[in-house]
Amino acid sequence: MEIIIQPNPGVATSLAARLLGKTIREKPDAVLGLATGGTMEALYRQLVAAKLDWSGVTTFNLDEYVGLPPDHPQSYHHFMGENLFHHINMSPRSINIPDGLAASIPAECEAYERKLSATGGIDLQLLGIGTDGHIGFNEQSSSLASRNRIKTLTPQTRKDNARFFASEEQVPHHVITMGIGTILESRHCVMLAFGARKAKAIAGAVEGPITSMNPASALQNHPKVTVILDEAAAADLILKDYYRWVYEQKPDWQKI
Ligand code: PGA
Repeated sequence: MEIIIQPNPGVATSLAARLLGKTIREKPDAVLGLATGGTMEALYRQLVAAKLDWSGVTTFNLDEYVGLPPDHPQSYHHFMGENLFHHINMSPRSINIPDGLAASIPAECEAYERKLSATGGIDLQLLGIGTDGHIGFNEQSSSLASRNRIKTLTPQTRKDNARFFASEEQVPHHVITMGIGTILESRHCVMLAFGARKAKAIAGAVEGPITSMNPASALQNHPKVTVILDEAAAADLILKDYYRWVYEQKPDWQKI
C-alpha cells in the first residue's frame, strides 16, 4: 500500500483529483469505480472544475440503498447526479448504479457483476472508509471474497449516515453493495479518509491484521492501493513518519 499523508482534506482531495484526472487523460475509455459519502463531495467538485473529457468513460458505483427511488434526495443515484453526472459530459448509458428498487435484488446483483466483467473490469476504484472499516457497504464480518449482494447496515453505520437524512429512523436498513472480492479485482484502489473519526479504522486497515472485523484491511492483499489521508485520519498509524519519508523521497517518475 502507498500511504500519502497530506496536511488537510483540501490538499489531499486535490491530490486525489489529480490522480483521477491523470487516469482519464491517459485512458479516455477508462472504467472507474465511484463512491459516495461526504468525503467524495469535494473531490467531485474538483473533478467538475477540471473540465475533463468524460465522453468515453464508464462508471460503476459501489452501492445503493434498497428501497429508495432514484429521485430520492438521499439515494446514491441522486447524490451522483447532483455532485458529478449533471455537470460532466458522460453518456447516461455509461453510468451504472445498482437499482435499489429492483424486483429481484439477487438478479440485480448478478446482472451488475456480469456487466462489470463485460467491460473488462475497473481501472481505478475510489473508496471511502466507514468508522468501522467498511468499504462499499461491506460491514464488519463481511466475507473478504464477497461479490455484489444485499447487506444489512450496522446500527453504527445507520447512525453515521443519519446526518444526511431527516432522522435516523429514515436511514434504510438494507443496501446493495459491490463485494470485497469484486473490489479487489479493480486494477487500482484509491482510498480517501479524512478526520479523527476515521483514524482507528485507518490504523486497522493499513497496519492491523487482515480481518473481516476491518473489511478495508482486505486491501493489504491488493497489489496497487493508494491511501490518501489528512493528518487527523493518519494519527494512529505507527509508521506515519516512514510513510511521509517514502512520499517525500519518491523518484520523479513515480510522482502523481
Ligand atoms: P463518509 O463515508 O465519506 O461520509 O465519511 C465513508 C463511508 O462510509 O464509506
